[in-house]
Amino acid sequence: MAFTFFFRDEQILSLAVQNLVPLSIGRANVHILNAGCAMGMETYTFAILLAESIGKFALRNIKIHAVDIDNENVDFGKTVTEGIYHKEHLQRIPPALFSKYFRAYGNGEYFIIGEELRSLVTFKKLDLLELTPLRTDYSLIICKNVLLHFSYNQRIEVLKMFHSSLLEGGLLAMENTQAMPAELAGKFKKLVDYAQLYAKT
Ligand SMILES: C[S@@+](CC[C@H](N)C(=O)[O-])C[C@H]1O[C@@H](n2cnc3c(N)ncnc32)[C@H](O)[C@@H]1O
Repeated sequence: MAFTFFFRDEQILSLAVQNLVPLSIGRANVHILNAGCAMGMETYTFAILLAESIGKFALRNIKIHAVDIDNENVDFGKTVTEGIYHKEHLQRIPPALFSKYFRAYGNGEYFIIGEELRSLVTFKKLDLLELTPLRTDYSLIICKNVLLHFSYNQRIEVLKMFHSSLLEGGLLAMENTQAMPAELAGKFKKLVDYAQLYAKT
């Protein structure tokens, strides 16, 4: 089972939200790819931060495509498809956000995330190394703690695939320790000094 947790790398996810909002104005549909989503904690953390920023009503234009190679992750309990998590996985969520977006499910051991966020997300099995873009109109790709598992050349090929999957100006968010390979400097512009957030040039 993959290592992941709610509100991991919150800084880069919040920064991605802030930069996504101006890009989304006037778009009928805003597509987001969460590549290497594991058991969906990252996906729903991003959805919560986005909902907090733009409000529940503005979410109707948002589509989050969450993919992972590992079926064990995607089938983790009922987690991914139904947004149901055991309480032990929910402890890092700030209490005010937890009570706003989760409700008890079943015997009190489990909680389910609100339909307004679940309905934004579709989960799918995908091997990023097949280098086949699902779409070519993403406004944002989140890919954290995944590329480190690949060789340097595989990383470059996956990043090129992300580049061709983004709209002009679209955003790429990675974990802090994942630097952009020098070979791709002309394809992505770094937006801040302190985090790995890039825009497609
Ligand atoms: C350490 S977890 C990171 C999860 C989440 N992104 C985070 O930051 O918490 C790495 C994830 O990458 C997925 N992964 C590894 N190789 C992959 C590939 N070739 N295609 C898609 N997903 C892959 C693993 O299955 C795992 O769920």
